[in-house]
Amino acid sequence: MPALVVVGAQWGDEGKGKIVDLYTPYSDLVVRFAGGANAGHTLVVGGEKVILHLIPSGILHPNARCVVAQGTVLDPEVLLREIDELEARGVSVRDRLFISDRAHVVLPQHKLIDALREKQRGEDAIGTTKRGIGPTYEDKVGRRGVRIGDLIRPALLEKIEANLEAWAPLFSALGDQLPDAKKIAEDFAALGERLRPFIADSAAIVNEAVKADKKILLEGAQGMMLDIDHGTYPFVTSSNAVAGGACAGAGIGPTAIKKVVGISKAYATRVGGGPFPSELLDETGDALRNAGGEFGSTTGRPRRCGWLDLPALRMAARVNGMCEIALTKLDVLTGFKELKVCVAYELEGERLLEPPFDCLGSVKAIYETLPGWDEPIDGAKSRDALPENARAYIELIEREIGVPVSLISVGPDREQTVSFEDPFVIGS
Ligand code: GDP
Ligand code: IMO
Ligand code: MG
Repeated sequence: MPALVVVGAQWGDEGKGKIVDLYTPYSDLVVRFAGGANAGHTLVVGGEKVILHLIPSGILHPNARCVVAQGTVLDPEVLLREIDELEARGVSVRDRLFISDRAHVVLPQHKLIDALREKQRGEDAIGTTKRGIGPTYEDKVGRRGVRIGDLIRPALLEKIEANLEAWAPLFSALGDQLPDAKKIAEDFAALGERLRPFIADSAAIVNEAVKADKKILLEGAQGMMLDIDHGTYPFVTSSNAVAGGACAGAGIGPTAIKKVVGISKAYATRVGGGPFPSELLDETGDALRNAGGEFGSTTGRPRRCGWLDLPALRMAARVNGMCEIALTKLDVLTGFKELKVCVAYELEGERLLEPPFDCLGSVKAIYETLPGWDEPIDGAKSRDALPENARAYIELIEREIGVPVSLISVGPDREQTVSFEDPFVIGS
């Protein structure tokens, strides 16, 4: 079976990194297909924590071949730092990490503009990660971007000059100095040289694997509610985080994808601005944040916390074509006397089962309340071993969404996972 897509089914940070790490031993190739260093994917192996922003979360498995595909936007410095850190840990990435020559480069001006725009927005700030993601995708779509392959080609300076020219009016309106093209070209050519051994036609590599009937694991970033087309626009990221984005991002046809697994936390979190109907602004929210260690992996910002939002998850199941749910952080709910689940929204007297256009800020969450459990579950090895109330919580999700929960995560470590099947088996 060629390709399996793993995507975030909420507002990001669902635990995609952990799940991709768990699925990697079943895969021949792991491919990151969208987003940039706005992502922070955490892996915990034997108590040791690794946070990856760009390199696929399969990389800790020494034989895994990993691809950073052309749907991503890449900050070469972050990429090289990640490579260096892995090598320093004794994880060799030579000959098994492939970086797309077509992926767009995050340049210094992109990060400057990202920060400036956020400042200009004031109270309405998106709360971006300030990693230059929006402006880089903007340049890609505006057909003036610089790609990874350009870093090792002679025309780099001209491309950077042309790109800066496009931003010149904005810099001059803001009274800011335009960055120096020559300096950027020199710096980025040097970074390109260091990246040269990894630069490849990644879509060709992925397609070769499809043809050879290899197992390809496509790793999403962000989550459905942050998707540029389906999320809480404009409080979204600038790329397609949904499973459909995997085809364009990795360069394969939709016929290659045989399964989609959506990752959802057992509750909900969001970083940055924008609507969040089931948000808890009280001590219960604080308790979730503390129990779940809900602080951004990329920016360290405290994550906003709330009850599980089933209308959002329902929509995620629909737009991603989700076959299964991997439910993470169930252990965090241990000790709560009562658990609420947002089963629908109310808007102007109407009951809505999915997020409406543009009004997510005005909807009221309708909750169902379930009894909690006190028993620690972070060592549970089977679904049957979970307390009855925890099983009832999972069953409610399955019933409401109509998608089975195929994996349950009960702690950050690889080992803290309730038994699951080979993810490449259809109908598992
Ligand atoms: P990603 O962006 O989707 O990969 O998720 P992040 O890594 O940003 O955030 C998820 C956080 O939850 C990380 O700190 C993980 O180590 C942690 N985590 C993942 N699964 C579990 C779990 O089942 N229980 C607990 N307590 N933590 C988990
Ligand atoms: P992972 O892959 C959580 C959020 C930002 C902001 C919005 C736009 O770790 O789940 P951007 O910098 O992309 O222009 O910011 O999107 N955001 C994320 N939130 N997890 C992520 O990635 C995110 N990537 C972007 O906080 O609200
Ligand atoms: Mg994250």
